[in-house]
Amino acid sequence: MQVLKKTLMITTVCCFALTACKKSVIEESNRLANAFADKFLIGTAMNSLQIFDLDTLGTDIIKKQFNAIVPENCMKSMYLQPEEGKFFFDEADKYVAFGEANNLWITGHCLVWHSQAPRWLFADENGNDVSRETLIERMRNHITTVVSRYKGRIKGWDVVNEAIMDDGSWRQSKFYQIIGEDFINLAFQFAHEADPDAELYYNDYSTAIEAKCQGIVNVVKSIQAKGLRIDAVGMQGHLNMDSPTVEEFEKSLLAFADLGVKVMVTELDLTVLPGFNNFTGADVSANFDFKAELDPYSDSLPDQVALEQQNRYVDFFKLFLKHHDKISRVTLWGVTDNDSWRNGWPVPGRTDYALLFDRNYQPKPVVAELIKLTKQY
Ligand code: G3I
Repeated sequence: MQVLKKTLMITTVCCFALTACKKSVIEESNRLANAFADKFLIGTAMNSLQIFDLDTLGTDIIKKQFNAIVPENCMKSMYLQPEEGKFFFDEADKYVAFGEANNLWITGHCLVWHSQAPRWLFADENGNDVSRETLIERMRNHITTVVSRYKGRIKGWDVVNEAIMDDGSWRQSKFYQIIGEDFINLAFQFAHEADPDAELYYNDYSTAIEAKCQGIVNVVKSIQAKGLRIDAVGMQGHLNMDSPTVEEFEKSLLAFADLGVKVMVTELDLTVLPGFNNFTGADVSANFDFKAELDPYSDSLPDQVALEQQNRYVDFFKLFLKHHDKISRVTLWGVTDNDSWRNGWPVPGRTDYALLFDRNYQPKPVVAELIKLTKQY
């Protein structure tokens, strides 16, 4: 009888262990990071609630599904250095600590950007534009202070963000107007001096527009011609349902790869909301009045629209997988639909469904489709 009891107990324990193991294997196989492990890093932007551990359902998804993170906002210069010489690193420190604790690839975003820069950066005591020398010194100090702090911990930096317009011309930012074209080379130089091992990126939206792509190609060539380090071009990937085409995106992807740099898709999301007067891009300053007709899915997303979005996500991931040798990272610009900046841009107060996880923190069917897709490449 004793032998029988022991055998029964051992069998039960084994069954539990097997079930747990099988569950773990299924869970592991359902992780985006595992599915794409031999292709490219797959990551997400982290918002303040997640960084301060106030959205534990969101951070659970990050830990389970992704292997790379980018800070959505906390490392922008207006937050890190709101006043000259006064740095606030609390949130950025927590962001980096989260990445290290979870063995994630940690990217810094972004050192030089025309938007979200503190006013003092460009102004003298009378409110006039500072001299070229002063702005260069202020840019150097910001970059050096920030990059040095996370030396060896932040593995890559969006050094310059959105310096080129859709027609390929220079954005008339204060950086450009006061310093000139060379501000980009200087930014990359300062970042490299502060952490010689960090990867350095140029990042922009609407990169599938041919003229803009050429403008960015010229920027990269300028950086390379100076003998400065640039590792990759970030194609933000803020997609609409009808633009850009996969072919247009691929053409720019290949143009950047031909420069001998890696390509990253850095801020991927796919709005299902109607555009208007051909408005595209991701210029954060764009803002239009709310109209009910611009917010057709405020209650829920029709199955047909969800399927069309799923198919378009699959089409773009087929492109990414086709060129996985040129792509080092694909990052979603947020975890769940509720996190997405597209709920409020370019029209405030709308309900979008732009990401891979829904408002109940559940993976949309597209996640399983993407995992399945990786087995075909
Ligand atoms: O945290 C404050 C909150 O305290 C305040 O009550 C509220 C209302 O003013 O503002 C909150 O800050 C907002 C912040 O997002 C956090 O939600 C800022 O106003 C708002 O401007 C900021 O928007 C961010 C935007 O960049 C501008 O920095 C978006 O979340 C972020 O997704 C977006 O991301 C950019 C990339 O950095 C660069 N590429 C384009 C992309 C989309 O614009």
